[in-house]
Amino acid sequence: MQLDRDATYSSVLVREFDSVTPENAMKWGPVEPEKGTFNWAEADAIVAFAQAHGMKVRGHTLVWHNQLPDWLNSGTFTPAQLSAILKSHITTEVGRYAGKIYAWDVVNEVFNEDGTWRDTIWYRAFGDKFVADAFRWAHEADPQAKLYINDYNTDLANPKSDALLALVKSLKAQGVPIDGVGFQAHFDLAVDSLGDMAANLKRFTDLGVDVAITELDARIPMPADKTALAKQADFYKEAASACVSLPRCVGITVWGFTDKYSWVPYSFPSEGAATLLDADFQPKPAYRAFAEALAAAKP
Ligand code: G3I
Repeated sequence: MQLDRDATYSSVLVREFDSVTPENAMKWGPVEPEKGTFNWAEADAIVAFAQAHGMKVRGHTLVWHNQLPDWLNSGTFTPAQLSAILKSHITTEVGRYAGKIYAWDVVNEVFNEDGTWRDTIWYRAFGDKFVADAFRWAHEADPQAKLYINDYNTDLANPKSDALLALVKSLKAQGVPIDGVGFQAHFDLAVDSLGDMAANLKRFTDLGVDVAITELDARIPMPADKTALAKQADFYKEAASACVSLPRCVGITVWGFTDKYSWVPYSFPSEGAATLLDADFQPKPAYRAFAEALAAAKP
């Protein structure tokens, strides 16, 4: 974990941010690698670090189809067993950090790009019912935590964000304790164009939920030249301006803040340079554009 190994990383984190999110340490695979055997060390260390520095913690993520433990992926369970396993996971993890985590990504990435439901272990067993159950169980375990549904490629109006909007509306109508919607905002400069993110997010706040940008980055086909870095700055600025313009946009989380450590080159080997600071922790054009847009939020 970079927090233990890289003093510059830790000091820049504390200098620049007031909230942290574990990138992987709170996911099901890392926390329960064997059924009933828990490994909280890294997640606990991140929470302790945040508390020691007066920072908030966003929890990520409870119900997902990725990074599940092997015992769960390869096991055979009846729907009743699976429901009990999911309830226990949510209750255990949310309960452990009750009062220490201000917001949880309860449910992550349930839709395909065309707005149909993603075929996952959860959807196959329960249809869409697992979503409402997950929020209710999380709320029981920590009534104070703000509970989010989170997804990517929902930053602009499209079939996927339309489906998410319809789901949130339906959950609210059923009285499900959902507080917010997370927009991951993983931009890809090779394919994405700027659009009216504020207008899309407002569709959600109009339903009476908070919104947050939860995993902001903007990856560039490598090598990154000046033109690409300027375009990247526009994407960061657009996201910050969208959030600042909406009273119910409560925060922006970036998915890594230095190009020294980013998930992008592992998942997209020809792309990179996705974060605000370069690999030497020096600000890129995106940093300045982002900071200027955020400054507009100050009264
Ligand atoms: O920890 C193991 C290590 O022991 C092993 O040697 C190594 C070999 O491959 O893998 C390591 O695990 C990797 C893990 O990151 C920790 O570095 C996994 O392979 C790798 O798949 C995993 O990638 C993570 C990815 O989620 C998995 O889907 C990224 O770090 C993480 O940034 C990314 O985050 C997701 C959000 O949770 C949800 N939204 C999209 C976002 C980006 O994909």
